[in-house]
Amino acid sequence: MGARVLVVGSGGREHAVAWKLRQSPHVEEVFVAPGNAGTALVATNLPVQPKDIDSLCRAAKELRIDFYLASMDDPQPLGLVDRLRAQGVLCYGPTQAASRIEASKVWAKEFMARHAIPTAASLSFTDYQEARNYVESQPDGPLVVKASGLAAGKGAIVCNDMHEALNALDIIMVRRDFGAAGNEVVLEERLYGWETSAHAFCDGKTAVMMPFTSDYKRAQDGDIGLNTGGMGAYSPSVGVDARLAEQIRHDVVDRAVAGMDAEGAPYNGTLFPGLMVTDEGVRVLEFNARWGDPETQVLIPRLESDLFEVCHAAAEGRLADVEVKWSERPAVGVVMASGGYPATYKLGHVIEGVDDVDEGVLVFHAGTKQDRRGLVTNGGRVLTVVAMGDTLEEARTKAYSNVARIHFTDAHYREDIAKV
Ligand code: AMP
Ligand code: GLY
Repeated sequence: MGARVLVVGSGGREHAVAWKLRQSPHVEEVFVAPGNAGTALVATNLPVQPKDIDSLCRAAKELRIDFYLASMDDPQPLGLVDRLRAQGVLCYGPTQAASRIEASKVWAKEFMARHAIPTAASLSFTDYQEARNYVESQPDGPLVVKASGLAAGKGAIVCNDMHEALNALDIIMVRRDFGAAGNEVVLEERLYGWETSAHAFCDGKTAVMMPFTSDYKRAQDGDIGLNTGGMGAYSPSVGVDARLAEQIRHDVVDRAVAGMDAEGAPYNGTLFPGLMVTDEGVRVLEFNARWGDPETQVLIPRLESDLFEVCHAAAEGRLADVEVKWSERPAVGVVMASGGYPATYKLGHVIEGVDDVDEGVLVFHAGTKQDRRGLVTNGGRVLTVVAMGDTLEEARTKAYSNVARIHFTDAHYREDIAKV
């Protein structure tokens, strides 16, 4: 009998993970909570929300789940992995203690300092007035103001001057746009450079790096407009050569995994450091205790190994026993979003053309659902179109020619993904 696997979330990332798991001969059935219209094509959707861990644990028991693969951030800080393990479910994902590396930016900054992991200088504050006084004492200092808690990847505000920084403090600590995530703020030195996302499979003691990816966070072409969850991605990242990759492995990933183990919270699961490469070297912007979205949509199609085998081995602390193989071919993913995202947008527009894509092109759903009219939009980021090619340019051209075949009212996408 094959494994019965649980995935939690409803993004393009979860569709990509479920799609890949489905191809494993070791997997009998995949369940996605709550999933979307795309995950429904490859898995069984469960009507349970990611933060409702009581219901997730109950469903795991009733459905005889034997493996949990953590892809999104929400359930782990609430202790889902700890509870599922206690129920006898094998888990690839961080415990509540280990997920602090993402769930508390203040804790993560202190952890990085303890283990000499390079990052921007910072101070943290729980008191609004003290934070304000500090900002006012730095009239020339461009700062980044970050809500300490989880904020769906949107809790960091990059400021050009003191007035912007004071405004950001108000948004986070007074207006409370990110809720309780803003109980504490991190005020960070602003870094300049270029960004890349690292992902690693971790089994508590060792890490196996995935290829590097580049993500496009801003809503509009040319990196302007509001910060989003991510409007597109490609892999491998141009600019990350073997030397830089080795430095990131040594200074960031290995130190983090060894540090978590030494502190009694071994890190099992995918660790995703967001990095900035500056003139002074690489710096960690944040650690994510999950897979990136849309990074996952361009990583998974390049993975030639069996995702279940790799994650299963990692969950059992045997990552060293498996070979993780990747395609050399670059992948480009373009997110099609609802017009207006990440601010306000309308739902329920009919989506046409997802079945008209070229052979080998993948459409991973995010905010989609089926209603009596067929497939309709149901979120900000609607889907990611992913193509691979012999070159990055070929993958990019293919991705965009397929994006052009998919239609829904007010669809918005960037035209400069992977234009390097
Ligand atoms: P984070 O959620 O911490 O990854 O931040 C989101 C985005 O804000 C990053 O991808 C960067 O583009 C930007 N950012 C975060 N920290 C800094 C920093 N110290 N200096 C410049 N930009 C930053
Ligand atoms: N795409 C960035 C993230 O998943 O945080």
